[in-house]
Amino acid sequence: MTTTTEPRAVTGAVGAAHTRLEGWDKVTGAARYASEIPFAELTHGWLVLSTIARGRIRSVESAPVLAMPGVLAVLHHGNAPRVSGDYTGPLGSPDPILQVFQHDRVPHVGWPVALVVAETPEQAREAAETLIVRYDEEPHDVAFSPGRPGMYTPENSPMSAAETAKGDLEAELDASAVVVDAEYTTPEEHHSPLEPHAAMARWDSGRLEVVDSNQGSRFVADELAKLFSLDPDSVRVRSEHVGGGFGAKATRPHVVLAAMAATVLHRPVRVVLTRRQMFSVVGYRSPTAQRIRLGADPDGRLRAFDHQAESLTSTVHEFIERSADFGRPMYDAEAHYTVNRVVPLDVPTPSWMRAPGEAPGSFALESALDELAEKCAMDPIALRARNEPEVGPVSGLPFSSRRMLACFEEGARRFGWADRDPRPGTRREGRWLLGTGTAAATFPSGVAPSTAAVTAEADGTFTVRITAADIGTGARTALALVAADALEVAPERIHMKIADSDFGPAMIAGGSMGTRSWAWAITAAVSELREQLALGGGIPPQGITARSDTGEAVMALAKKERHTFGAQFAEVAVDIASGEVRVRRMLGIFAAGRIVNPLTARSQFIGGMTWGLSMALHEEAVRDQASGGHVGADLAGYHFAAHADVPPIEADWVDDPDPDDPVGIKGIGEVGIVGAAAAIANAVWHATGVRHRHLPIRPDRVL
Ligand code: MOS
Repeated sequence: MTTTTEPRAVTGAVGAAHTRLEGWDKVTGAARYASEIPFAELTHGWLVLSTIARGRIRSVESAPVLAMPGVLAVLHHGNAPRVSGDYTGPLGSPDPILQVFQHDRVPHVGWPVALVVAETPEQAREAAETLIVRYDEEPHDVAFSPGRPGMYTPENSPMSAAETAKGDLEAELDASAVVVDAEYTTPEEHHSPLEPHAAMARWDSGRLEVVDSNQGSRFVADELAKLFSLDPDSVRVRSEHVGGGFGAKATRPHVVLAAMAATVLHRPVRVVLTRRQMFSVVGYRSPTAQRIRLGADPDGRLRAFDHQAESLTSTVHEFIERSADFGRPMYDAEAHYTVNRVVPLDVPTPSWMRAPGEAPGSFALESALDELAEKCAMDPIALRARNEPEVGPVSGLPFSSRRMLACFEEGARRFGWADRDPRPGTRREGRWLLGTGTAAATFPSGVAPSTAAVTAEADGTFTVRITAADIGTGARTALALVAADALEVAPERIHMKIADSDFGPAMIAGGSMGTRSWAWAITAAVSELREQLALGGGIPPQGITARSDTGEAVMALAKKERHTFGAQFAEVAVDIASGEVRVRRMLGIFAAGRIVNPLTARSQFIGGMTWGLSMALHEEAVRDQASGGHVGADLAGYHFAAHADVPPIEADWVDDPDPDDPVGIKGIGEVGIVGAAAAIANAVWHATGVRHRHLPIRPDRVL
């Protein structure tokens, strides 16, 4: 097992720009995604979702549909095999939406009620749309609002405390010369990866074989084994290419449905979700209501810090959007209070969506800090510098590294911040008012146990096998660079094999922890391999393989505040006639560990910042109170940033290798979106003199 202090030669692969190993395959169409791989005797399942928001299924009228051409089966709660829901999966207890067709209760619009299986997708779809499902409807409640009845403070989870408190908040607020007390809201938001969720399942020689689009094939395999009470070794999940994830592609109902139908029909079954179905079946970001109270001395030093965040969950599963977590490592104060509250409603269970918690939390808190800077007549960057903590404000733990101010310094220099006139509403260019804004970013830097195998082949190449997922981030390529450096060979001599649960347990592509966790495992396996190779002797035809398991090393990491940081800058123009906000440029500077592949890392940061722009100005899922369902649950009705909305975006980083990681990685997946919406909202204030505390900043809100 490698240790973090072991000296290691560097060949320069890590840190040098490298195009994607699978780039050619992707642009030529040779790379095949889960719904594209042919199988003999393949059948097609089409999902039917509930149209009511609460009640019971009275009947599923299968008979007419079973008589339609090509239809093989209609699965529903009356005939589906039983699955287990009483287990702890890799990500905790499962959302009951995974236990498909186990009872007649309907807890929200878009709950899976039937699967129609047919010989072709067209036949399955036509039959599914013909299927009549009758319900006994009950009154529903989908109305989220700040402080509404039913809101409660949940139990602490191992991941995060629901509530943190130190000092006397009210006393410090009273003693503060300057106070900001404001409420912010963010709407329900959706991730909708370009490649919809798709899975094929079949039984092959006593094994359940699955091809799925997911963020972690081993996690999906383990979850399927538990759901269907199977020996874990009898499930194999592969996910070679994935067209986006963002938290949406954990284990979701489509893969359970495919496995269930394949079991019933004794034939391969593929289930592909439609774009509309994704709006209720694969998670989303809860709306949030956040109250922030900041009390400060006239010089901007915080005395009181209060961040109370509310979100919703479903009636069947508790998921908390932890917006108030954002400020816990960020700013200290004499009295410091944070809480995440939640209310269960008759809606689908929300879930992880890029920077869960930090994305909405940073909008509220980094907006409030801008308001405090205004009230203190201070530069917003100087305000943040004044409140830079020595240790974790809530935990008291030291930071592994914290280079937030270095990000602001570099960002301010490149953005031209020094020339900024702080007065709002004073710059005009024809019908446009101009402004600039900034905000800070942070996201936890984590690592999770993973296993890897590295083989020295007889031909002088090396094969890496790890259940990593490349969801479009470039992880496959990054890991090849890590392996090349560890082996001190050129990247061209590395063969990467990923996304096959048979390769062993490994972290998912999630929580900004994938590449770091996998790189650690690969580095450890290479260390082991080099020891074996150092013993001498030739390489046999089957090669020499070394394996690693980073469980112990990861668990032995000292407790510290481990985070990435960043500084976001934006310039906007606001049309005084139409209320339209145009972002003219964005700059993000990040301190996010050693950057493995600058080419794909920059893309990932820019992707996050683009999403932050979209969050600031466009995205908003609207729930119809009467039906309990969405208005416009598709990519026409759900407005998001198009190319024409996105200006030149620059992303770069300061040197910040993680001192406790074998490669120096911290993880970059989420931090790019954090703070981006606040920087834009702060720029809109600077342009117009009006604070926008409710997202998105639509033209009708600006006017
Ligand atoms: Mo991410 S929201 O952990 O996929």
